[in-house]
Amino acid sequence: MTDRYAVIGNPISHSKSPLIHTLFAEQTRQDMSYETVEAPLDGFATTVRRLRDEGYKGCNVTVPFKFEAFKLCDRLGERARDAKAVNTLIFQDGQILGANTDGTGLLNDIEKNLGFTLMWKDALLLGAGGAASGVLWPLFNAGVGVDIANRNIEKARILAAEFTGSGTVYARRYEELAGRKYDLVINATSSSLSDELPPLPDGLFKPGALAYDMMYGRETPFMAYAREQGAALVADGLGMLVEQAAEAFYLWRNVRPDTQPVLEKLRS
Ligand code: ATR
Repeated sequence: MTDRYAVIGNPISHSKSPLIHTLFAEQTRQDMSYETVEAPLDGFATTVRRLRDEGYKGCNVTVPFKFEAFKLCDRLGERARDAKAVNTLIFQDGQILGANTDGTGLLNDIEKNLGFTLMWKDALLLGAGGAASGVLWPLFNAGVGVDIANRNIEKARILAAEFTGSGTVYARRYEELAGRKYDLVINATSSSLSDELPPLPDGLFKPGALAYDMMYGRETPFMAYAREQGAALVADGLGMLVEQAAEAFYLWRNVRPDTQPVLEKLRS
């Protein structure tokens, strides 16, 4: 019987996940289907339990349900616990197991696809919402020094406080960034959705720096700013999307798909 999977979000119709997982399944000859499911904003838990009871094997979770998914799980992987957010669910013996593959997806895209080494680099992470918190621990564990900038400084301070005792992550106001320089600047704000640019000063990028926007689908104001400011590498988040999907696929199927042909197909 064909194993069923889905991605749950709201809105969800534009998701590229069904295409990505269908290509992975074809490539690795897995008998599975993958569809989009839109959950009502107040009906996430009911939707997940329905899918589990209907015999689905697992699902991905996207905006705005990743925190709710975290609370719903019977068991959690380490990265999900660190991020307090879940993007991958596995239904097993009636239990809901939760993982977070976003951080690994970002790291794989940066190191493997973009060829940028992370160890000992200085990064500026823009934003302190779900997208930022999902990648903060993986970046930290990869040996990256992280500053978090956010308009609402309290949210950045709460994230930074998690690292007290383990190392140093600084919360900074945008006004404090003038004169600072980074090897890596990651836009994890939702500013690109509204075609806005966070209030960034000139001169943020060190020589050889990577500018990474977690958004994908078009050239964002952040990417345009980074090119104008002379960032050596400018990337959107499509590679991260494909890599996080590959990690989820591996958790479900115990088979690692080759992400390169899938990424090339999506880009063309
Ligand atoms: P997500 O789950 O996508 O991270 P979120 O939790 O709503 O979404 O968080 C959105 C993030 O984008 C926040 O860090 C927000 O900053 P504030 O907390 O200061 O509001 C940030 N953001 C959104 N629009 C922005 C803009 N135009 N400039 C800078 N930051 C912006």
